[in-house]
Amino acid sequence: MVRLSERVLALKPSATLAIDAKAKSLKDQGVDVINLSVGEPDFDTPETIKDACIRALKEGFTKYVATPGILSLREAICQKIKTDYGFEYKVDEVIVTTGAKQAIYNLLLALVNPGDEVLILSPYWVSYPEMVLCAGGVPKIVPSSFIKRFEPSLDDIKKAMSPRTVGIILNSPSNPTGLIYSQSFFRDLAEFLRSNNLWVISDDIYDKLRFDLKKPENILSTDPGLRDKVFLVNGVSKTYAMTGWRIGWALGPREVISACAKIQGQSTSHATSFAQKGAEAALKLSDEVVMDMVRTFTRRAELLTQELHKIQELEFIPPQGAFYFFVKVSAYYGKVSPTGKRIVNSISLADYLLEEAKVAIVPGIAFGEDDFIRISFALSEGALLEACKRIREALSKLS
Ligand SMILES: Cc1ncc(COP(=O)(O)O)c(C=O)c1O
Repeated sequence: MVRLSERVLALKPSATLAIDAKAKSLKDQGVDVINLSVGEPDFDTPETIKDACIRALKEGFTKYVATPGILSLREAICQKIKTDYGFEYKVDEVIVTTGAKQAIYNLLLALVNPGDEVLILSPYWVSYPEMVLCAGGVPKIVPSSFIKRFEPSLDDIKKAMSPRTVGIILNSPSNPTGLIYSQSFFRDLAEFLRSNNLWVISDDIYDKLRFDLKKPENILSTDPGLRDKVFLVNGVSKTYAMTGWRIGWALGPREVISACAKIQGQSTSHATSFAQKGAEAALKLSDEVVMDMVRTFTRRAELLTQELHKIQELEFIPPQGAFYFFVKVSAYYGKVSPTGKRIVNSISLADYLLEEAKVAIVPGIAFGEDDFIRISFALSEGALLEACKRIREALSKLS
């Protein structure tokens, strides 16, 4: 028998992808499932982006390109970061990757030595701890609490640290909470980071999807002085409804970005050539296209807030961005379904909602918080209303 590596044996499969697969398989069997587990916008990729890609294909742009990405896309990324944040980056401080996911993974491979600890703020995106493990590091989870809007204090962060701590991953607006870290959180952390030798991966994948329509912000906009230790990760997946295109990027100090290129050069080479042309067209689109999507998400968030409030046992903080609600459901733990199944945690509740309500959601344990479930609102208002009705009915059957 072939022996699998310890690395892969230690790895958990992506819980969000697993739920999504379960929902899709039920759908294929003809079951009317409403899938609120998805992490992708339901909008179609704008036509101009598709056209740019088709043009590139027709013009034969189908060969190997530069490992860190085509120059014109890297230039467009530098221009975009300047417009959005006012930051100046040069093309050799950018690497184009196969989705933001690979940007984070490349960075971790470039920055983490065996046994190094990386701070991850709970609740966290499912892939962070697993990626740190894969890179040989140790994920150190910083706890937070619902009453403090899931914002850890500097003390919480310090408590999770040891002499082996090398970096921290930030994500705001957050998947799964949809919340944006406060100015004071960023200020306190920035001040601490100035006098500590930690790097930061700032996962800004939802930065434009904020319902207050304000300019995006991150730790570097709070303190530009941190530039030599901050890595900015972003991509086109969420902002332009381009999840399947697999284009992301990282910006940061040249030395580390070239280390990422070295890793990428020996693994995937580069992101798909013609998809990069599509991404370039996306970055040149007017912000109005994105704002239209944001307005739709805002309306849906308001609708869901209203509908979920009708279920008294649920507790949640309405999101400020992204397209997720992180809902406290532990009031149902200990209750029993009509078929005699006891709800004991977020996984059993997710299973029950899929079986009884035919609604797929992600159990909070996947994000490190078992008292919660994540509901995505990347679906039409009609589907969301129907899903809320089904959830309400199913939950009312628990006794
Ligand atoms: C917080 C966060 N970071 C990164 C990603 C990865 O995005 P991409 O599709 O660009 O790989 C996701 C996707 O779900 C995400 O939610």
